[in-house]
Amino acid sequence: MRWVQADCESTNIHSVESNIAKIGQQLVLLAEIADYPVGFCCVLAGRTSSDPLFIQQVTVVPLAQKRGIGLALLNAAAEWQPERNIAMATLDDNGAARRLNASFARSIGGRLQRVPLRRFRRSDLGFASGERHRPWMIDRQQKAD
Ligand SMILES: CC(C)(COP(=O)(O)OP(=O)(O)OC[C@H]1O[C@@H](n2cnc3c(N)ncnc32)[C@H](O)[C@@H]1OP(=O)(O)O)[C@@H](O)C(=O)NCCC(=O)NCCS
Repeated sequence: MRWVQADCESTNIHSVESNIAKIGQQLVLLAEIADYPVGFCCVLAGRTSSDPLFIQQVTVVPLAQKRGIGLALLNAAAEWQPERNIAMATLDDNGAARRLNASFARSIGGRLQRVPLRRFRRSDLGFASGERHRPWMIDRQQKAD
């Protein structure tokens, strides 16, 4: 995780202890090419069975981007608990993340929709109060238009 964090300008580099703590609390999926880590995704299952899966972070190192790794990580997260909807928060001006979310929703046949900021806790979505991320949800029961 730390190598990927170090390679990605937009991602904070966390201590090994902090990354180990995250692995203890959440599902952390690692993508590798030839044993070299190229991306990861942190996923939190909601507290109750009707809560969604929260995609807290998905990051792919710049050299491996636009090759389907982000989408593969999200698909693996979706398969983990297929009965749950999926929520994530994205900055409006993060075109790569917005396009990835749209491709992800299409690939699992769900409907991607914006949801009000108050719908989920910021900590579940993985961002702090000063950040301008906006929440989205993929409803897996409602088919995409
Ligand atoms: C967002 C991110 C994870 C995408 O990973 P990726 O492996 O490049 O994504 P994929 O190759 O699976 O591409 C999925 C879709 O996003 C599009 N996409 C990826 N990077 C893009 C970019 N820089 N600009 C526009 N679209 C982009 C792809 O073209 C593809 O769209 P399509 O299916 O309509 O063709 C990656 O850019 C990244 O790590 N960014 C920095 C961290 C970040 O912003 N994470 C998201 C918020 S936590």
